[in-house]
Amino acid sequence: MNAESRQEGFELPAPGQADQAKSLELIELLVEQMRDGPIPFADYMATVLYHPTLGYYGSGQVAFGAGGDFITAPERSRFFTAGLAYEWRQARESGLGQEILEVGAGSGRLAIDLLEQLAAADALPERYTILEISPALATRQADNLQESLPPEVVERVRWIDAWSALDWSGGVVIANEVLDAMPVERFRWWPGKPETAERMLVGFGGQRFVWETRSADAGLRAAVEAIGARIEQPIVTPRETVLAEYNPELGQWLAEMAGALGAGDESWVYLFDYGSHTADIYRADRDEGTLKCHYRHLAHEDPFVYPGLQDITAWVDFQAVEQAARKAGFAIDGERSQAQWLLGTDVPQQVERELQARDSLTDQAQLAQEFRELVMPTEMGERFRVMRLRLGG
Ligand SMILES: C[S@@+](CC[C@H](N)C(=O)[O-])C[C@H]1O[C@@H](n2cnc3c(N)ncnc32)[C@H](O)[C@@H]1O
Repeated sequence: MNAESRQEGFELPAPGQADQAKSLELIELLVEQMRDGPIPFADYMATVLYHPTLGYYGSGQVAFGAGGDFITAPERSRFFTAGLAYEWRQARESGLGQEILEVGAGSGRLAIDLLEQLAAADALPERYTILEISPALATRQADNLQESLPPEVVERVRWIDAWSALDWSGGVVIANEVLDAMPVERFRWWPGKPETAERMLVGFGGQRFVWETRSADAGLRAAVEAIGARIEQPIVTPRETVLAEYNPELGQWLAEMAGALGAGDESWVYLFDYGSHTADIYRADRDEGTLKCHYRHLAHEDPFVYPGLQDITAWVDFQAVEQAARKAGFAIDGERSQAQWLLGTDVPQQVERELQARDSLTDQAQLAQEFRELVMPTEMGERFRVMRLRLGG
């Protein structure tokens, strides 16, 4: 079987030979996992993204930024991080603890920019912890931080790979685009009607991976009932059934986070991601759900293409996050679009000052464009959202 590249309407660029070989090795491993029958999509996604030597994140295959597969807000502009520096100062003024914890730090860009900005403002945290489950990315982050920051700043940074390893006295937690990178389950249903839900599994069809449909198990039934209960208006649709996803790890992840943070004083948790409310995510006209794959800045919907070489994500249901966070013991401080959040910090004034300090019109235009990309509804402004959770205190 080949690592396939065909997509409706366009051809994805072919990977190099070494990448093809790596993807084939992962395909063989997945086929072996499917020896006794199809596997849950969440298991497929966990393997293709997080296998420690062959997975997209696990092996460090992921390429962040403008020249990579996709671009996140901190990779796009340091003004995103400037908003977080503002939040950190607010937290300190409220007497919050002295620590920052970043979950899922990618290339380390956010950590570098934030520590640089806080060092310049004489507002460094006592400790900056990175919780990263990919060993290859943790190494990449450490290398990048060492290259970019003075040793006395890097000294404050440490890495852990599980909530159970966190030693925490309280402070600010940041997770940007982590929830959308967690494995999801896929199902087919008539939107809003839990009794119609069927489970989508992944099987091997001899030449390529294929979807297989099974009746819902107890886990899926409970999840779709909770989704149905959050959709206030019954959905009237002429369609038969549509595809959808949910994050089966969400409740456990938030409970572990609450357990780990609970040992310290008050914590504020900022969860940034792209997503929406339940009724919008499970809209009847989203026939294909919200699953998206990214490969060299091309977005498509086939998670079986180039296993281990492409990113797979799904939208975050912020109402599900709110429900699970409350259950885990967090208080919810509200949820806003990235634009509303950033415009409520001191970043617009900072942009204004920087614009005035630049003589060249080209430089000014570039700077304005950088900020616009973070706040415009057609860019990251609306679809990206932030929820703040609070624990303790
Ligand atoms: C889409 S990348 C975002 C990277 C970075 N936050 C940014 O905005 O550029 C997702 C990151 O989260 C990490 N990750 C995924 N699931 C995680 C988990 N359960 N705990 C900690 N890190 C996780 C990945 O390894 C990766 O570093």
